[in-house]
Amino acid sequence: MKSTANTSPSDIILEVKDLVQVYGKRPVLNGINFQVRKGETFVIMGGSGCGKTTLLRILIGAQRPTSGSVHIFGEDITTASPQELDRIRLRFGMNFQFGALFQSMTVGENIALPLQEHSQVDPSLIEMVVKMKLELVGLTGFENFKPSEISGGMRKRVGLARALALDPELLFSDEPTSGLDPVMTAVVDQLTLDSTRKIGVTAVVVSHDMTSCFRIATRMLMLGSGTRQGDIVAEGTPAEIKANPDPFLQQFIRGEADGPIPFRLSQDDYLKHLLGDG
Ligand SMILES: Nc1ncnc2c1ncn2[C@@H]1O[C@H](COP(=O)(O)OP(=O)(O)OP(=O)(O)O)[C@@H](O)[C@H]1O
Ligand SMILES: [Mg+2]
Repeated sequence: MKSTANTSPSDIILEVKDLVQVYGKRPVLNGINFQVRKGETFVIMGGSGCGKTTLLRILIGAQRPTSGSVHIFGEDITTASPQELDRIRLRFGMNFQFGALFQSMTVGENIALPLQEHSQVDPSLIEMVVKMKLELVGLTGFENFKPSEISGGMRKRVGLARALALDPELLFSDEPTSGLDPVMTAVVDQLTLDSTRKIGVTAVVVSHDMTSCFRIATRMLMLGSGTRQGDIVAEGTPAEIKANPDPFLQQFIRGEADGPIPFRLSQDDYLKHLLGDG
């Protein structure tokens, strides 16, 4: 495993170089490059199916890209061995798009999982951490509920609590606010802000909720779709993104139906969409 310590300043937590992902013959990521610095809330946005989850899966080492590299804390995640990945993952939390809570376990057991897997922590201390994390996400007293007994929005917050269980230096979140009402969206956004500004966590958040993106981001990146599939449409601070005249970007951040973003849905995609896997 190579290190970029000699080429990157120490405040670069994540560095993506020439990242390519091709599924079959279809390029989803077309050689993208970006860096995330310590303490930033870096928001990745883009239309449905443009490759946000794919990118996040590669960033956390859950998927090997077709080519390119991803350095986290100076270590290449794309070539790391399972043991090296385990060690690097101790330093980051992951909050997945579809909750991925274990249905047979209680909320408390779900949150305790990373603590039990990754550290020799005393059970009474684990119980205390679980209580603290539940309080953090506004779910005090729910430790004995099963995921099926709470709402979708509550499950999302449990996912976030679990991602924060090990007090990570880096937090990856995929659509942390999708499906939440505006108040809960604001609560989860505030949690992200508190984690980054008060605790110094670096966050990489995937979202297509524009209100949320502009509320939390220190820097943003938009991935293209349609004719711009696989490319970075724009990258910058929220102010730079707002001022960027790119029509594709402006249509997206304003949520307008008319513009250069194509809306093509084949029968196949429609069927996949209905079945929830497209
Ligand atoms: N394992 C896979 N094999 C083949 N194609 C895949 C795979 N995973 C994703 N894709 C395809 O890659 C494209 C990007 O998918 P991805 O889930 O990364 O998009 P997304 O931006 O996260 O979408 P959404 O906003 O709906 O969550 C889609 O066309 C999807 O069908
Ligand atoms: Mg996704």
